[in-house]
Amino acid sequence: MKKFSIVIAGGGSTYTPGIVMMMMDNLHRFPIRSLKLYDNDGERQETLAKAIGIVMKEIAPEVDFSYTTDPKEAFTDVDFCMAHIRVGKYAMRELDEKIPMKYHVVGQETCGPGGIAYGMRSIGGMMELIDFMEKYSPDCWMLNYSNPASIVAEACRVLKPHSKVLNICDMPVGTKRRMGYIAGRDPKDMDVKYFGLNHFGWWTSVKDKDGTDLMPQLLDYVSKNGYLTEKAVETQHMDESWQQTHKKAADLLKLSPDFLPNTYLKYYLYPDYVVEHTDPCHTRANEVMEGREKEVFSAARAIIEAGTAKGSAFSIDNHASFIVDLACAIGFNTREQMLCIVENKGAISNFDPTAMVEVPCLVGNEGPEPLCQGNIPTFEKGMMEEQLAVERLVVEAWIEGSYLKLWQALTLSKTVPSASVAKQILDDLMEANKEYWPELK
Ligand code: NAD
Ligand code: G6P
Ligand code: MN
Repeated sequence: MKKFSIVIAGGGSTYTPGIVMMMMDNLHRFPIRSLKLYDNDGERQETLAKAIGIVMKEIAPEVDFSYTTDPKEAFTDVDFCMAHIRVGKYAMRELDEKIPMKYHVVGQETCGPGGIAYGMRSIGGMMELIDFMEKYSPDCWMLNYSNPASIVAEACRVLKPHSKVLNICDMPVGTKRRMGYIAGRDPKDMDVKYFGLNHFGWWTSVKDKDGTDLMPQLLDYVSKNGYLTEKAVETQHMDESWQQTHKKAADLLKLSPDFLPNTYLKYYLYPDYVVEHTDPCHTRANEVMEGREKEVFSAARAIIEAGTAKGSAFSIDNHASFIVDLACAIGFNTREQMLCIVENKGAISNFDPTAMVEVPCLVGNEGPEPLCQGNIPTFEKGMMEEQLAVERLVVEAWIEGSYLKLWQALTLSKTVPSASVAKQILDDLMEANKEYWPELK
């Protein structure tokens, strides 16, 4: 069996230890000869990397492990780059969330003005990573889950149309697992149909391998409980604020009663509710800094201090095993069916063929092949067209340095009530992002 060489870009991410542990747990199906971490914040990365180095010696000494801030070292001789960078880190996420809230507008990591601001930061960082990858390992594939994935995907389509970058999100994976708990099925044994943009879509069919339709049971359950289920044993999305999000799916279903919604639609369909239920002084970024970030970095320090991972190991992020599924699909041409963010090309028949959409794909050694989902109804199509225009305007604003296009993007977002509120938020975001955005004229 072929052995792969991997670089994780965003080595200092809170997800890195869990993903490394998951990959070590999956070596039997996805063999790795070399694993490198790369980050542009050497100090942040080093804390995790030193601890991971200790763990790797104990559980997988045969895998060559290293970490670096040097792009050449990181990207030379690699088969896959797994990218999860956060340009501006949590300090900027906090501002993305808090600035719109000053104007009683949704403050969220990837949706509305916060997502737009994050997109304007991510595009440059992502284009840089792709350049490094293509310079030092031209055959390498990038599996990207850096956010905001739909804006990043659109930027890749426009600026890097021939690059081997596959954008993917874990939300459909996580929600499908919840559906599995609800329907008493292994998610691997469920076939789905789905259409949408990233963080903006609907399941139109969920079936058992033998063809049994699970939709009636799921729709009935979700109409009462959303995706909340006592049976869920998850490694993420368990904080109280996430539980509220899973529950809110019941209200999303009311607008599209025949489809199962992506939970992120709550920011577009019930923005007033979201604002009312958000503390403007303590947002999700604060929860993550006080929770996941603290836990992961404390665990790393404990391992470094003890010189061993025995007694204080990182936990395996099983939820992230879809990343290995994806790498296997490309590396071994498994043609597994997975939801990916790809150019539409007719998969959603009555939607812009050049839009970057999220649909089921067959993934093989040439990448993802979208599967036809047919026509979609007017309501969902209208919402998607509006949101697609927002995402396109952000990418155009970044490329052209256009203040007007970014103002149009904010104004068009369903989360923002008017052009004047959009302008006030934009001016604040622009000031906060001086270091990260291109200059806008
Ligand atoms: P984090 O801040 O802990 O980690 C991000 C790391 O990226 C930091 O160490 C930072 O220094 C590094 N970084 C920033 N800019 C960089 C650049 N230009 N080059 C190299 N490294 C850079 O963030 P996190 O919460 O662990 O999340 C990481 C990313 O994964 C985010 O983009 C997040 O939105 C994304 N994410 C996506 C999904 C999905 O479904 N697509 C799921 C979870 C997380
Ligand atoms: C889901 C989404 C990701 C997003 C994450 C935020 O997994 O698919 O795109 O980054 O949630 O989770 P957090 O715990 O950081 O709020
Ligand atoms: Mn996502």
